[in-house]
Amino acid sequence: MSGCSPSGSRPLAEGARLYETDRSVAEYLEFHYGPECLGVPNFPAACAEAAVAAALRAGHAGRARCLDVGCAVGRSSFELARHFLHVDAIDFSHRFIEAALRLARDGGIFWHAPTEGLLSVERAASLPSVAAERVRFLQGDACNLAADLTRYDLVLAANLIDRLHDPAAFLADIAARIVPGGVLAITSPYTWLEAYTPPEKWLGGRIVEGRAVSSLEGLTAAVAGPFELIERRDIPFVIRETARKHQHTIAEFTAWRRR
Ligand SMILES: C[S@@+](CC[C@H](N)C(=O)[O-])C[C@H]1O[C@@H](n2cnc3c(N)ncnc32)[C@H](O)[C@@H]1O
Repeated sequence: MSGCSPSGSRPLAEGARLYETDRSVAEYLEFHYGPECLGVPNFPAACAEAAVAAALRAGHAGRARCLDVGCAVGRSSFELARHFLHVDAIDFSHRFIEAALRLARDGGIFWHAPTEGLLSVERAASLPSVAAERVRFLQGDACNLAADLTRYDLVLAANLIDRLHDPAAFLADIAARIVPGGVLAITSPYTWLEAYTPPEKWLGGRIVEGRAVSSLEGLTAAVAGPFELIERRDIPFVIRETARKHQHTIAEFTAWRRR
């Protein structure tokens, strides 16, 4: 299989290393479990809710198996466990999976949220779902998934595709892992960066043969064979950097029904 990740024979991509730092772990714990920021609802919870609603709209009643790929520190995985008997939750970052496992095991977690300069506040969160034992967290590569990671009723890939080395390779592989009638839910702000994805692999946001191609257009072309589009909408999110600095972004949510 052609890889889409920073793993394999390639050296670890510059971008992938960013998700292994203390700062990233704290930032994502804050993003997933911290207080609501600037009036924008919790993003991973909103993604899980939108993905479950899309599966209902697709008329797919199966609630056996779900995959949260690029799950980070696990909030959407725990939310999905309210609806699915089994959730596989996979992320490339060892540190993120370690934090999610600690939360599942201990029922709570602490981190420091930077405020200004060298100062921070201590935060704590407890497990957001009583069905946490239904989640299996695994460190792994979205583009080199084990053969048994298959037969999913729903796959959520939230803000993942623009962090992969070859997003089209991931999309080509994931189709066979979803049951007919099942749903692939994708969110992305399409912030393509060379640190993660070589420009010729960007799904859109570039000129191809003299024509401007949008990311939605490129995404549609990549999944159109095995999937049909059933929903498109915006989901905003805020990542808090310090007490006074935030990234306010609008992800595009698309839901695709497996033919
Ligand atoms: C922008 S974050 C989004 C995380 C989470 N879904 C959310 O919405 O908060 C991208 C995530 O994808 C993970 N990731 C990047 N490349 C990956 C790969 N090849 N396989 C699995 N996860 C990957 C990163 O470690 C990171 O947790």
